[in-house]
Amino acid sequence: MIPDKAPEDDVFHAAEEMRRGAHVPTFDTFKEMYMQSIEDPDKFWGDMAKDFFWKTKHTGRFLDYNFDTTKGDIFIKCMEGASTNICYNVLDRNVRDRKLGDKVAFYWEGNEPGDELTVTYRELLTSVCRFANVLKSQGVKKGDRVAIYMPMVVELVVAMLACARIGAVHSIVFAGFSAESLCDRIVDSQCSLLITADGFYRGDKLINLKLLADEALQKCTDKGFSLERCIVLKHLSKEAQEISLKSPPAKRPCPDLQNPSLPLHGHACCFSFVQQETETGRVRKTRPVPQVPWNPQVDKCWHALMADSSDECEPEWCASEDPLFILYTSGSTGKPKGVLHTVSGYMLYTAATFKLVFDHRPDDIYWCTADIGWITGHSYITYGPLANGATSVLFEGLPTYPDVSRIWEIVDKYHVSKFYTAPTAIRMLMKYGSEPVQKYKRDSLKVLGTVGEPINPEAWHWYFTVVGDGRCPIVDTFWQTETGGHVMTPLPAATPMKPGSATFPFFGVVPAILNESGEELEGTSEGYLVFKQPWPGVMRTVFGNHARFESTYFKKFPGYYVTGDGCRRDKDGYYWITGRIDDMLNVSGHLLSTAEVESALVGHEAVAEAAVVGRPHPVKGESLYCFVTLRDGVNYNRTLEAQLKKQVREKIGAIATPDFIQDAPALPKTRSGKIMRRVLRKIAGGERDLGDISTLADSSVVEQLFHNRCGAGE
Ligand code: WT7
Repeated sequence: MIPDKAPEDDVFHAAEEMRRGAHVPTFDTFKEMYMQSIEDPDKFWGDMAKDFFWKTKHTGRFLDYNFDTTKGDIFIKCMEGASTNICYNVLDRNVRDRKLGDKVAFYWEGNEPGDELTVTYRELLTSVCRFANVLKSQGVKKGDRVAIYMPMVVELVVAMLACARIGAVHSIVFAGFSAESLCDRIVDSQCSLLITADGFYRGDKLINLKLLADEALQKCTDKGFSLERCIVLKHLSKEAQEISLKSPPAKRPCPDLQNPSLPLHGHACCFSFVQQETETGRVRKTRPVPQVPWNPQVDKCWHALMADSSDECEPEWCASEDPLFILYTSGSTGKPKGVLHTVSGYMLYTAATFKLVFDHRPDDIYWCTADIGWITGHSYITYGPLANGATSVLFEGLPTYPDVSRIWEIVDKYHVSKFYTAPTAIRMLMKYGSEPVQKYKRDSLKVLGTVGEPINPEAWHWYFTVVGDGRCPIVDTFWQTETGGHVMTPLPAATPMKPGSATFPFFGVVPAILNESGEELEGTSEGYLVFKQPWPGVMRTVFGNHARFESTYFKKFPGYYVTGDGCRRDKDGYYWITGRIDDMLNVSGHLLSTAEVESALVGHEAVAEAAVVGRPHPVKGESLYCFVTLRDGVNYNRTLEAQLKKQVREKIGAIATPDFIQDAPALPKTRSGKIMRRVLRKIAGGERDLGDISTLADSSVVEQLFHNRCGAGE
């Protein structure tokens, strides 16, 4: 399927039809606008800001910053003096000023086909106001941190926007993370309230989310941090369905809180589920129901609180640089970093990138398959699309459930026109061939997007030809939790695409490629990808640890924001991200730190030392390959292997489960005792050419490890 050309020479142009009415119709327009955005950012962003509501206007420069540690503290400030509210801008402004109250904000599609819900902008606003009042009734105030640990349901969006409405800072933890990870994040950001749900299904697997949440809170208590309020959404109970978002909640108490037979605490299920059927009669009859321990001192029922709450809530006017949210991302030292984003810059940037990168039109149906627990969901399910008054699909399930056509079935069902997913999902679906895709029409599709890791040309071509029938431009968007929004990306009508290249910077973004000594390289070159100046959506600090923010991103090359990615620029000036150049792994589009996995392994009593590296994987991009040196007297066997995998899963989450564990009686080390990961990566990948290993203290170790490597046939 791949043409017989180097990817560099494989250029695709959008069809003429795509250009008609496009926000940025040609490459020349892009170049012109880009120059304006760099030469006069105040004007460029000032024009963008006109679409939004500002309680007070900004004074002074649009962006003020210092990127150079040798000149003082690092800071970024956008639109100082202005005040606004992001929730007001994404909801009230659409309902009141833009008359979009009856427009659909979300088509929620549940895990189970047939489970669905339609929510308009007006309904969303009402629910958000109601929940904002609930938060206030629970004592949440401006600036307080609220932890959210929820499945992909509309109430997750409601919870985050309600926080934003009252100026509270949400800290969402992906529902696939373990209790321990949730605890660490709650403690680090000192959250005063947790919002969670009873449970959810991922495919046919039940996740007992409330049990995990309780375990996390117990761990917090053990660490001396007490969080005393937890709001629980009953997503899987029949009650929850009846008083869903659609109709204003009936004034009636939550039955569970009324039930005197409830155990005060413990692990008995507090509400008995009526085993239920959906309208299609397919589902839950034979399925296990979640276990929901209930402690009335701590746990509050979402629905009961909502029923008692008013739907009028004046937004809290926030200063531009007030915190909006914290989102944790892996750090190379092993401890996750709480990336902090602030109100005005993030709002403008996610709105502008969404509009231009997906070339948003009012009648679009947009679908991003990410989870809101990751930055992609924050920026491109919640804030960016809602700021534009877009209609989105919000999908709870998996691409493979109940079968591998599910995605395309949904595309046809809602007439999705803009579709955004990850290379790992594309490669996974590609394994099943074109038939499951071609069973569906997909003629509504107009733009396809990818994010999370470099997309290999083979997957790009399959996406372009099979999924998009050769009609739809692909926007390969490079960005990070830290960047808030897309920073390197094509614009669908304007930018000639090259498979595997994120092409050019977005407006306001100035990239450079540096060599090891920090010199900027010109023309065709390869090195460290850095940015020379801020754009409105860049992170402002690591929560509670500004020193770590400075040392992680600004210390290596003073004056630049360092991405941690390698990058190549080709003869036509296109940028090609080559992957991480620090101790991070990218597994299925999720960043993991080798140190974090290693410390989870060493946490097991049998393990003396561990070294984790990435090994190329055809679907996941990279898989986790772990070398463990056991303590004296311990023998390696299957049971221990299973225990070690469990250990990592429980410490971090299922995404970090090791794919391979190899018993390593010794690790290759330099004479000074540093583990040579470069060598381990080669061993894991089965590459015989090890390069220079003259600094190895004992080279016989390598031969031994090669001999016993895992998964040699894969
Ligand atoms: C890292 C950031 C941004 C949302 C998802 C991940 C890699 C991301 C691309 C792309 C090549 C990419 C980078 C980056 N990455 N998108 N289009 N091409 N690499 O967010 O967890 O903060 O990870 O993902 O390595 O640094 P994240």
